[in-house]
Amino acid sequence: MRKKIVAGNWKMNTSAEQGEELAAAVAERSGETDGVLLIVAPPFTHLTKVADKLKGSAVQLSAQNCASEKSGAYTGEVSAAMIAGTGAKYCILGHSERREYYGETDATLNRKLTLCLAESLTPIFCVGEKLNERESGAHFDVVRTQLSNTLFNLSDEDFAKTIIAYEPVWAIGTGKTASPEQAQEMHAFIRKTLFEKFGDKALETAILYGGSCNPGNARALFSNSDVDGGLIGGASLKVDDFIAIAKSF
Ligand code: PGA
Repeated sequence: MRKKIVAGNWKMNTSAEQGEELAAAVAERSGETDGVLLIVAPPFTHLTKVADKLKGSAVQLSAQNCASEKSGAYTGEVSAAMIAGTGAKYCILGHSERREYYGETDATLNRKLTLCLAESLTPIFCVGEKLNERESGAHFDVVRTQLSNTLFNLSDEDFAKTIIAYEPVWAIGTGKTASPEQAQEMHAFIRKTLFEKFGDKALETAILYGGSCNPGNARALFSNSDVDGGLIGGASLKVDDFIAIAKSF
């Protein structure tokens, strides 16, 4: 049985105080979402404080990114080891905002994957096509290339630890969600692509949907056989919405 997962990507939102409050509220209400793994991904500066608030609950902590180098003279960067030191067990990698605004390439992401896995951080690895790529019918090719240039380089063992998030770029923060059919079609494609490389291990891999997921559309998305949960941006900043989404399986 694959895990059901709902992860909140807070992006560059919340003050330290708001972050602590939100984390405490998620921890307090996590009992309502039996059988669902809840993960929160606050900004780096909040990780230790949020870790404190999550203590004693089953809610897990994630970073949103990590450095592509191990340590040293890289001003402003935060290493995978530093993240692991906060108590975080997960790290989002390859989010389209990182790819687009910070020039992250598949080569960068390969280094980040290796560094995270070496620190026992579970990558939540994002893939997804842009609007023009979907409109031109290139979406499957784009996603296959994103996978084959990165995750295909992992050992079977490391691949088995990885979570995948399909996030069509045109649906992120736009209020435009992929239809349940579009999500299922791409998730099934991703699973098939991974199966061709990793065999049965791909049947155990959680594939999350991300992009304007909210309490109103989560149930229809999560009811698809290859959609194992969600990576939630905007709606993860409101505890009621985040918990409602996690109750939508
Ligand atoms: P959104 O963001 O839910 O605000 O569209 C999702 C994401 O970028 O992870």
